[in-house]
Amino acid sequence: MKQHFFRALPFLLLLFILLQANADLDSDKQALLQFANAIPHGRKLNWTASSPICTSWVGITCSKNPTRVIALRLPGTGLFGPIPANTLGKLDALTALSLRSNRLSGNLPSDVLILPSLHTINLQSNNLSGDLPSSLSPQLSVVDLSFNAFTGEIPPEITNLTHLTILNLQNNSFLGSIPDLRQTRLKQLNLSYNHLNGSIPSGIQNFSVSSFLGNPLLCGKPLNLCSSISPSPPPSPSILPPSPREKSKKKLSLGIIIAIAVGGTLMLSILLLALILCCFKKKQSEDGGPSVKGKGVRTDKPEDFSSGVQSAEKNRLVYFEGCSHSFDLEDLLKASAEVLGKGSCGTTYKAIMEDGTTVVVKRLKEVVAEKREFEQQMENVQRVGQHPNVIPLRAYYYSKDEKLLIYDYITGGNFSLLLHEGGRQALDWASRVKISLGVAKGIAHIHSAGGGRFIHGNIKSSNVLLTQDLQGCISEFGLTPLIRTPAVPPRSAGYRAPEVMKTRKPTQKSDIYSFGVLLLEMLTGKSPIQSPRREDVFDLPRWVQSVVREEWTAEVFDEELLRDGNIEEELVEMLKIALACVDRMPDGRPTMDEVVRMIEEVRPSDSENPPSS
Ligand SMILES: *[C@@H]1O[C@H](CO)[C@@H](O)[C@H](O)[C@H]1NC(C)=O
Ligand SMILES: *[C@@H]1O[C@H](CO)[C@@H](O)[C@H](O)[C@H]1NC(C)=O
Ligand SMILES: *[C@@H]1O[C@H](CO)[C@@H](O)[C@H](O)[C@H]1NC(C)=O
Ligand SMILES: *[C@@H]1O[C@H](CO)[C@@H](O)[C@H](O)[C@H]1NC(C)=O
Ligand SMILES: *[C@@H]1O[C@H](CO)[C@@H](O)[C@H](O)[C@H]1NC(C)=O
Ligand SMILES: *[C@@H]1O[C@H](CO)[C@@H](O)[C@H](O)[C@H]1NC(C)=O
Ligand SMILES: *[C@@H]1O[C@H](CO)[C@@H](O)[C@H](O)[C@H]1NC(C)=O
Repeated sequence: MKQHFFRALPFLLLLFILLQANADLDSDKQALLQFANAIPHGRKLNWTASSPICTSWVGITCSKNPTRVIALRLPGTGLFGPIPANTLGKLDALTALSLRSNRLSGNLPSDVLILPSLHTINLQSNNLSGDLPSSLSPQLSVVDLSFNAFTGEIPPEITNLTHLTILNLQNNSFLGSIPDLRQTRLKQLNLSYNHLNGSIPSGIQNFSVSSFLGNPLLCGKPLNLCSSISPSPPPSPSILPPSPREKSKKKLSLGIIIAIAVGGTLMLSILLLALILCCFKKKQSEDGGPSVKGKGVRTDKPEDFSSGVQSAEKNRLVYFEGCSHSFDLEDLLKASAEVLGKGSCGTTYKAIMEDGTTVVVKRLKEVVAEKREFEQQMENVQRVGQHPNVIPLRAYYYSKDEKLLIYDYITGGNFSLLLHEGGRQALDWASRVKISLGVAKGIAHIHSAGGGRFIHGNIKSSNVLLTQDLQGCISEFGLTPLIRTPAVPPRSAGYRAPEVMKTRKPTQKSDIYSFGVLLLEMLTGKSPIQSPRREDVFDLPRWVQSVVREEWTAEVFDEELLRDGNIEEELVEMLKIALACVDRMPDGRPTMDEVVRMIEEVRPSDSENPPSS
C-alpha cells in the first residue's frame, strides 16, 4: 500500500502541477473573455471559450510552458469605451500590454499599472482621461500614455521606477510640476504638450527641448531659465548633450523617401515641410543665439501641422487579425528604410522601427483599383495568404495618394539574388529542389483557394523569398489586378507566357508557364532577364528547347549543379517538368497540383522528411 502510494506520488505531483497550471491559464482566459464581452470592438476578436487560448486567440502571447498569458496586444482593433475594471487586472503574469491606437476612453482602472510583472504598457493614441493611478508596478520599463486626455499630476511614485527606459506622456493634460526623475536608464522622455509648470528637475535636464515643448509654464534647462531677472545667453552647442532628435534623423528616411517621391501630393508634402521645419528649428535652437532661443522654440505651428496630419491618418493603417505588430503609420514614417527592390508594382523597402521591429513595406504605384475594390482584394490576399509558402500580408494603408502594404520581413533574401549574384555555390541541388517545391506548393495553394478564381500573375525568382532554412515563399500575390498594366513589357517579360504577350490577361495556366521558366532558371543558373539595365529579354525556354533538341542535354545545366555527383537523372526529370510547364499551348501545361506531385517524385526522400524539420 505504502509502495503504491510512493509510486503514484510523482504522478500525483505532476497532476497537481498540471491542474495548477490549467487553473491559472483558465483564470486568464476567463478574465480575457470578460474583457472582450465588456468592451465593444470594431474588428472581431476570434476569442472563443472552446479554442485554445495560446495558439488560436489573436493578440495573445503565452509563457513558454505555456501556463500563463504574458502579453496582450490589440493595437488598432477598434476597441471602444472604457477599459473594464477587474478584467485585465486579473492577468497577473502579464508583462506587456498594448492597446494603442484604439478609441478607449474613461479612467485607466487602478488594477492595470500595478500588475506585478508589467514591464511594457502602450496605451498611446486613445482618449483615456482622469488621473493616473498612483500604484505602479516596480517592473515598469516602457510607459507610453501619449496622445490621450489624462489629467492631474504625474504620480510622484514614478520616481521609484528604477527600470524606466521610455516615458512618453506628450499630448495629455497633466498638471503641476514634474516629479524628480533621476533614472539613469531613462533613454526616451516626452512630456510635451501638457500643462506642466515649475522647474525641470536636474535629472532630466540633459534631454532636449523637444521633450518639453508646449508647456508654457515650465522653466529651467533646457528651456528658459526660471529666474526672470536676467536671461543669460543660452549654452553653446558644444555643451548641449546630443539630443534624441539628432539620433533619429536617419530614422525619418522612409517618410522622407516617400514624401519626396510623391512630390506634389498634399498630405506628405505637408508632412515633409513640417519635418524639415522642425528639424530646421531644432538645429536653430541648438545653434544657439539668444534671439533664436527667445522666440523660435515655442512656435508650435509646424508641429501642429505634422501631428495633425499624422493623427488624422494614424488609424487608417488597417491591420489584419493575428498581426502582433503594434506600430502605426507615424512609426512607419519614422522608421529607417532601405530599398530592397523596384518592381512593376512599385518599390519595396525594408523598414526598421524604433523598437527594432522590421517589416517590409511595399509602395504600390499606378493603382487603378477604387478604394472598395482595393479593400476587397486586400481581404482576399490576406485570406489566401495563409500558407507557409506564401508571404502573409499583415496590414495595409490606403489613401488617395498613397498605398502601402506591410509584410513580414523574411531574412534569407530572394531566390534571384542567390542564383545570380553570388551564393550560387551555396545553393546545392537539394536546396534548389526544396525551394522549388515550396514555391510550387504556395502557387498550388493560391490556385486552389476561392474555388480556383485566384491567379498570381507575377511569378519570377525575385518574388521568391527565402527563410533562414531555405523555405521558398512566394510574394506579391494578388497585386496584378490592382495595377495598371504597363504599355511596355516590364522586366518580368522573360517569365511571361506567349499568350499573355497578346491578351495581357494572366491566367492560372500562364502562372504555370512562369513557374516553368523559374524551374529552368534554377536548373540552368541563367536568368530570363539578360541585363537588368537594358531590360531585354532572353527567351530561356526557347534556348533550353533548342539545346535539348540537339541532344546536348547536359549542356543546359548549371555547372555548379554538375559538381553534386549522381544527380543527373533527377536533373533530367526536373527538366522534363519544367519543359512541360513552358509548353507554348496553355492546355498542354500540367496543373500546379500535378507539378507539386511530380517534383515530389523527383526526390521522394526530401519531400517526406524535409531535412530542416
Ligand atoms: C474623448 O472623451 C471625452 C469625454 O471623456 C469626449 O467628450 C470626447 O468627445 C472624446 N473625444 C473623442 C475624439 O472621442
Ligand atoms: C519610493 O520608495 C521608498 C522606499 O521604498 C519610499 O520610502 C518612498 O516613499 C517612495 N516614494 C514615492 C514617491 O512613492
Ligand atoms: C503649478 O500648477 C499647480 C496645479 O495647477 C498649482 O497648484 C501650482 O501652484 C503651480 N505651481 C507653480 C509654481 O506655478
Ligand atoms: C541623461 O543623463 C543620464 C545620467 O545623468 C543618462 O543616464 C541619460 O541617458 C541621459 N539622457 C540623455 C538623453 O542623454
Ligand atoms: C514629443 O512630442 C511632441 C508632440 O508630439 C513632438 O513634437 C516632439 O518631437 C517629441 N519629442 C521627442 C523628444 O520625442
Ligand atoms: C499635440 O498637442 C499639440 C498642442 O496642443 C497640438 O497642436 C497637436 O495637434 C497635438 N498632436 C496630436 C497628434 O494630437
Ligand atoms: C484567430 O486568428 C488567428 C490569426 O488570424 C488564427 O491564427 C487563429 O487560428 C484564429 N483562431 C480561431 C479559433 O479561429
